[in-house]
Amino acid sequence: MKMWAGRFKKQIDSGVNDFNSSIAFDKVMYKQDITGSVAHATMLGECGIIDKSEADKIVAALKEILSDIEAGKVEFTADAEDIHMNIETILTERIGDTGKRLHTARSRNDQVALDIRMYLLAETERVKAAVLGLLEAIRDKANENIDTVMAGYTHLQRAQPVTFAHYILAYSEMLRRDYARLCDAADRMNVMPLGSGALASTTYPINRERVAELLGFPAVTRNSIDGVSDRDFVIELASALSILMMHMSRFSEEIILWCSSEFGFIELDDAFSTGSSIMPQKKNPDVAELVRGKTGRVYGSLITLLTLMKGLPLAYNKDMQEDKEAIFDAIDNTVLSVNVFTSMFATMTVRADVMRKSASKGFINATDCADYLVKRGLPFRDAYKAVGTLVARCIELDTTLEELSLDEYRQICPVFDTDVYEAIDLDTCVNGRKVTGGPAKESVLVQIAVLDDFIRTAK
Ligand code: ARG
Repeated sequence: MKMWAGRFKKQIDSGVNDFNSSIAFDKVMYKQDITGSVAHATMLGECGIIDKSEADKIVAALKEILSDIEAGKVEFTADAEDIHMNIETILTERIGDTGKRLHTARSRNDQVALDIRMYLLAETERVKAAVLGLLEAIRDKANENIDTVMAGYTHLQRAQPVTFAHYILAYSEMLRRDYARLCDAADRMNVMPLGSGALASTTYPINRERVAELLGFPAVTRNSIDGVSDRDFVIELASALSILMMHMSRFSEEIILWCSSEFGFIELDDAFSTGSSIMPQKKNPDVAELVRGKTGRVYGSLITLLTLMKGLPLAYNKDMQEDKEAIFDAIDNTVLSVNVFTSMFATMTVRADVMRKSASKGFINATDCADYLVKRGLPFRDAYKAVGTLVARCIELDTTLEELSLDEYRQICPVFDTDVYEAIDLDTCVNGRKVTGGPAKESVLVQIAVLDDFIRTAK
């Protein structure tokens, strides 16, 4: 028998019963549902809307149900549709008529709005912890690689020398912005909607601020229609997760390139690689590829949510039940991806020698060679042209700027002297870039210290 049986002459069609039911996925919110109901019942008792003794009875029974669920002693049923009605049904089975008083001055519409906010607030913490874990791994690897010179790329062509520490600290900046976005999304989620009722609030003399206080919300929603219609916070979270996964996907792409024989910059730990069923020589970066792949799935959730909401008139519509699987899947896959990526990243071996070799070919010190001439009075454009000619000469002779003879240098531009070799030395090139945010050791040490500070305060 359905809760709304009074108005109906027929039982619900069994196909519709299953179709309509969300218990299979919204049961994960059991704790938030019970916690919300405990606060609601407490407030109803305090305000004299139900008897204080009945409120106490409801609260005690709800707490028992919670521990029974956690002990695996409770079975939910699709007949009760969703987590909210499942728990109310169990409550009523246990304490009879008193249980039926819990839903006074409340609708499932404001109840689900409350539950999902509380659930996503907790889940956002899980994502934040995962991001912090990766930031720590980056800090540690950066510390080990302050002197690891490598080629930096533009257009995937060798461009200018940087260090591996500097390179991966770029990802720490992206992840810090992701972290801030998660905090920001949580702030807007952290508003208490109960009391909005179905859409038009209630005539009972409830105390919404008291419920907010009991649940630890700093504020209550300002408009009852918005209170039950708003899923912006779900979309904002999905958007923050999508941007985070975009960064994870770029990072994964680099890992995949770096562990190829063509680059050979890193080697993944055996525990984080897979073999091929046919090619014995293969060691594949499946973890990074899967993170890259899952990014599409998380974007999919964002698009699902945006599309879900775009045509809905105010206030609640059942379409909104579809928000849960999308956002739950996005969170689970993001947390999974960040955590496994972190372990893979922390255990990989950095091939400093190969990185340095990559930086010594490809003329990535050509800019510094031109700067050498500028420091000796040539206009940059003339210096640029002279070095271009030098590079062409090196290619002709199959050599590098480091190995080209001083004679050759002087034939192209007589300003060159023996100290040019020192000026184009890779370490000189890197450590000369000591501006804020540059790859020089002293600048990178500052970047690491700032990151370390951030991690400490965030924890
Ligand atoms: N299971 C529903 C959801 O997730 C709860 C709200 C149901 N409200 C209603 N009027 N049918 O959205």
